[in-house]
Amino acid sequence: MKILVVGGGGREHALIWKIAQSPLVDHIYCAPGNPGIAELAECVHIGADEIEALLDFAKAEKVDLTVVGPEVPLTLGIVDRFQDAGLTIFGPNQAAARIEGSKGFSKDLMAKYGIPTAAYQSFTEREAAIAYIKAQGAPIVVKADGLAAGKGVIVALSEEQALAAIDDIMRDKVFGDAGASVVIEEFMDGEEASFFAFTDGQNILPLASSQDHKRAFDDDQGPNTGGMGAYSPAPVVTAALHDEIVETIVKPTISGMASEGCPYSGILYVGLMIKDGKPRVVEFNARFGDPEAQPLLMRMKSDIVPVLMACAKGSLEQDSIEWHDKAAVCVVMASGGYPASFQKGYEIEGLDQAAELGEVMVFHAGTALKDGEVVNNGGRVLGVTGLGVTVAEAIERAYQAAEKISWQDVHYRKDIGRKALNR
Ligand code: AMP
Ligand code: GLY
Repeated sequence: MKILVVGGGGREHALIWKIAQSPLVDHIYCAPGNPGIAELAECVHIGADEIEALLDFAKAEKVDLTVVGPEVPLTLGIVDRFQDAGLTIFGPNQAAARIEGSKGFSKDLMAKYGIPTAAYQSFTEREAAIAYIKAQGAPIVVKADGLAAGKGVIVALSEEQALAAIDDIMRDKVFGDAGASVVIEEFMDGEEASFFAFTDGQNILPLASSQDHKRAFDDDQGPNTGGMGAYSPAPVVTAALHDEIVETIVKPTISGMASEGCPYSGILYVGLMIKDGKPRVVEFNARFGDPEAQPLLMRMKSDIVPVLMACAKGSLEQDSIEWHDKAAVCVVMASGGYPASFQKGYEIEGLDQAAELGEVMVFHAGTALKDGEVVNNGGRVLGVTGLGVTVAEAIERAYQAAEKISWQDVHYRKDIGRKALNR
């Protein structure tokens, strides 16, 4: 079988690493990929958002299954285009991808189907938004409705901050059309976790639990990022909570999407806030999490290819996934300055030494080749992922490998996984 993976980050490297282990697979393409992915797959120079070029490529190469990593091509309708052309593709179609692409859509869905989440209201008028914030007070959360490259959520600790966010989004249009509408919602405190389920639109297949580390610095300080590290399993998600999440969130969401006439297939990402053992939804995403995919896929024992295929074909009958008993921890190594501006093009040293360590994978995200050397080329550069019998051992493995790798101004958190140890 020939598989095309769309994307070029740590998530896609981990997906390809896992897909490459399947006896069903003869050849893997990745568009656009990265230098780490190039060791496992044939990288093609097509951007993840170039839907017509991807479609032409998949037809010409007779690709049997296309797997979409990032959200933008999904919200642009890549799945609809491929399906119209008779191709098999894993991911939600454009109507279903609104679950991530429009915060208002996903909040209205949750309200209609009784899915636990923060109280909210949507606004298209700045004056009304301001009046609502003044009535509610702070802390409060302001969200641009559309995709804003992970920057569209402002957790405002004061009323002034919330009002400034409204001015940025609705008056100064810093997110363009993505801010034409805003969701203003109740601030939730608690512990965050990420929950994923494969689905064919009707049947669901939940994954093991995981937890991301969104803030740039240790002890959850500093600005929000795409994610600075992750681990699996997440002890905050007990077996009972796992079942509660499936019953009160995942099942009603999937059946709700079908009732709305936009059945959701692919992988559903539920961002959760857990307080006093009760889960509430922070957000939905229409794709695998990054970096969560990296520890999760290292722990997955079952072949992933039949699952991806069954989701894409609407025939998901498998009801469980086998997991390695080990814990996995991923430490994201980032360019100094990320999530703000940073310098690219520094040579990365120590990749070979890190690769020699057992039970460790160094997944590439923002890397590139320059004069034959691997250099940093993005904010999040590498996802150094280790397995261990315990979380403590997995943490040690990941950091042992990370310490072998360096480039100018490299930054990574030193406390990934500590929350799991504290439990
Ligand atoms: P999102 O882009 O929706 O993932 O939001 C980014 C981050 O903002 C989340 O991971 C949370 O840490 C935080 N956040 C979003 N909504 C809320 C909320 N209602 N209460 C508290 N924190 C939130
Ligand atoms: N880890 C956060 C995300 O994938 O959105």
